[in-house]
Amino acid sequence: MQSIQAIRGMNDILPDQIGWWQRVEQTARELLSSFGYREIRTPVIEKLDLFARSIGESTDIVEKEMYAFPDRKGEMLALRPEATASIVRAFIQHNLQADPLAKKLYAIGPMFRHERPQKGRYRQFYQIDAEAFGIDDPMLDAEVMHMLRLFLERLGLTGVVLHINSLGCQECRQDYRDLLKEFLEKNVAELCPDCQRRRHTNPLRTFDCKVERCQAILADAPVLLHSICGACADHFESVKSYLDQLKTAYVINPRMVRGLDYYMRTTFEVITDRLGAQNAVGGGGRYNGLLRDLGGPDLPGIGFAIGMERLILLLQQEQSEAQRCPKIFVASLGASARDTCFLLAQQLRSLGLETEIDYEGASLKSQMRRADRLGVRHVLIMGDEEISRGEVQCRDMMNKTQTVLPLEAVAPRLQEIYKEEITENGSR
Ligand code: HAM
Repeated sequence: MQSIQAIRGMNDILPDQIGWWQRVEQTARELLSSFGYREIRTPVIEKLDLFARSIGESTDIVEKEMYAFPDRKGEMLALRPEATASIVRAFIQHNLQADPLAKKLYAIGPMFRHERPQKGRYRQFYQIDAEAFGIDDPMLDAEVMHMLRLFLERLGLTGVVLHINSLGCQECRQDYRDLLKEFLEKNVAELCPDCQRRRHTNPLRTFDCKVERCQAILADAPVLLHSICGACADHFESVKSYLDQLKTAYVINPRMVRGLDYYMRTTFEVITDRLGAQNAVGGGGRYNGLLRDLGGPDLPGIGFAIGMERLILLLQQEQSEAQRCPKIFVASLGASARDTCFLLAQQLRSLGLETEIDYEGASLKSQMRRADRLGVRHVLIMGDEEISRGEVQCRDMMNKTQTVLPLEAVAPRLQEIYKEEITENGSR
């Protein structure tokens, strides 16, 4: 019978990879907490309308990439393609505005987009997402990007660049839209059918087009950053000045529009040149107006998301992770020794020592072979003879030495040897 495989573009994260994920998540949690962010967990399925209204009907995400389906009653639902919309919905629904500790929120979890899978681009992928509500001050825009930089620095990631831009506000964007429409009209014959349509529905989205010809034409399009109003320009100047004070390096990228409609003013991306076409490790921006548009209070918002797979791919190119392996193997020889070994293993585990044991009554030779393959540091050996003397043979696999210890002294001795690692990693 043919075995069942995972869905294309959806990956298992296997035990030999999990150390990377845990390190990234732990670093994120620590850093986000120190900046005042608290965790929120929202459902992976929401009403389709939430994403259509926030990300935008004519974005690639909503038009082409959503896992959308009717439920049993015919209501249209979707697997979340990103976290911002869900967090904003939860913020409004639970009136978190009233909770002084819930103005900054973060979430870690899987998102779903039906894109063509390739390296760094998957159909289920994980994001670390941070959102802050109620603050319009450019100080926060700079702080958010500074925090993102610190996070990547803490993980030891090098060679990524922060790109920033301002998309202006509704008003300045209206003027720009007219300019862009005019430009697209002049070049309409050369645009792909999608962009010909976008020039009417949402001209800014032509910048997301993946067709090379369209990209070449758009290289000469008017630049939004050059048409933003005075207030937006001042805001952007302030953001840059705070970034300078925080010594957070950036490049201004006036052509970066981001693929979601809710942004205004500050937008940013962390870019790499080491993942082929998938060059964005993370991105975000300001979205004043989104809360109001989703039926909530008229509060400003800003946030970002990091793609965990892309981040980990980059980390793996630069660093190597020590494989975790159990430290102790308890090997038994004979039926009565087996039970004593079983109890000893439980005692060691309860002290936080990673311990493996044979459950199958294998020969001593094959148990030793397994201990070797697992890469353990100590093997404890007990046969009927040791049991009758109340002793254990303790073999140090690294130094190739063997000592005899009284049974009751084994646990305290190993606890002493591994003391530092137990306190470092917590009791596991
Ligand atoms: P986004 O730019 O669509 O923004 O996604 C953020 C990051 O998620 C990307 O930079 C990338 O690393 C990762 N990503 C996106 N799609 C995929 C995929 N198919 N496979 C692997 N990784 C992927 C947002 O999602 C916004 N919600 C960010 C935000 C938060 N803006 C304000 N607050």
